[in-house]
Amino acid sequence: MKVRRLLWSGWWLWPLVAVCVADTFREQAVRIMQDTPVIDGHNDLPWQLLKKFNNQLQDTKADLNTLTGTHTNIPKLRAGFVGGQFWSAYTPCDTQNKDAVKRTLEQMDVVHRLCQMYPDTFVCVTNSSGIRQAFRDGKVASLIGVEGGHSIDSSLGVLRMLYHLGMRYMTLTHSCNTPWADNWLVDTGEDEAQNQGLSPFGKRVLKEMNRLGIIVDLAHVSRATMVDVLSQSSAPIIFSHSSAYEICQHRRNVQDDVLQLVKQTGSLVMVNFYNDYVSCQEEATLSQVADHLDHIKKVAGAGAVGFGGDFDGVSRLPVGLEDVSKYPDLVAELLRRKWTEAEVRGALADNLLRVFEAVEQVSHHAQKPEEEPIELDKLEGSCRTKYGYSAAPGLYHQPVTLLAALAPLLLSGYLL
Ligand SMILES: *[C@@H]1O[C@H](CO)[C@@H](O)[C@H](O)[C@H]1NC(C)=O
Ligand SMILES: [Zn+2]
Repeated sequence: MKVRRLLWSGWWLWPLVAVCVADTFREQAVRIMQDTPVIDGHNDLPWQLLKKFNNQLQDTKADLNTLTGTHTNIPKLRAGFVGGQFWSAYTPCDTQNKDAVKRTLEQMDVVHRLCQMYPDTFVCVTNSSGIRQAFRDGKVASLIGVEGGHSIDSSLGVLRMLYHLGMRYMTLTHSCNTPWADNWLVDTGEDEAQNQGLSPFGKRVLKEMNRLGIIVDLAHVSRATMVDVLSQSSAPIIFSHSSAYEICQHRRNVQDDVLQLVKQTGSLVMVNFYNDYVSCQEEATLSQVADHLDHIKKVAGAGAVGFGGDFDGVSRLPVGLEDVSKYPDLVAELLRRKWTEAEVRGALADNLLRVFEAVEQVSHHAQKPEEEPIELDKLEGSCRTKYGYSAAPGLYHQPVTLLAALAPLLLSGYLL
């Protein structure tokens, strides 16, 4: 009785107790993240550095210790316990068939220069053991993800060279078809299906990515492309920044039957924080992001969950997840929802490391590379030369048909 009376007479203390409980989840999150920091699947800081500074990183306003107006800077990365980041080397779809390769190289160069300029914070790595070493050294393991297959200009040679320059994932499309893979806008009806998933050349791109050890990223691709890749890839794949369709019916999100394939293949969905994909509305909350994580865990298992915030690539972020410093708050929410410590560590880093190690295992550099180029008539755009193709047997018909078409005009003296 006495205790009960004490409890009741202390009713005004209850909000304080609630705050203290919340705090213990936050403290537990921080304790976990001290040795398992987050590896985020997709951050567009390099794109911001292009837009704001034309990639002039020595501009005093571009100093990452003090940079403002972005979701990402060094103090925020530190406060957020970010220990691994796939930096996006992104060039928009309007560069397709134009200067996409050049711009992709420039964005990859930005990541290399960030590692040189801030060696106490960033270390550029290209494999899973490099990530683990960066964790031990307290640095942000920095990797390159190329966002959009248009960046290789339909060339296996370019794909291989981007690998050599550090590309460790490639998103097969951005929001446009390539000549060899369809994008998600095909599923909304805004784009026409061109390849019904992966074309025969797209399958060679996939094989070559498996052989090299480049993670396949299925964010932004069409449903048919997802299914093609999940049934044909010899290594698990990632969605570097996509959420759950069942929670928000946006075609950038992953449908439940595809989540089943994710589960079967040991693949990974790194949840996007963009409000429009989280709540299907302009406003969203941290708790709604946790709903996506819960759902993917329920359908595909805790091993299929990761974080791909899309920071600095989106205009609207949930209340409570405004910048990269907020990851511990999301982890605290998962702990509050009774995720085990092992499940949380999985979502933070272990799941990505598992996929990356599997991709490394499958890679086989001694195996012969794919060589057969894309068919000439699949290439679009007018500013490309055709060297190599003209000598190939069976490709003579183009100049020949042109000559045949011109012959009557020549004979009639029209062109003389
Ligand atoms: C991982 O990358 C580092 C360079 O960052 C290299 O020294 C090391 O040999 C690589 N490890 C493996 C297993 O390829
Ligand atoms: Zn994207």
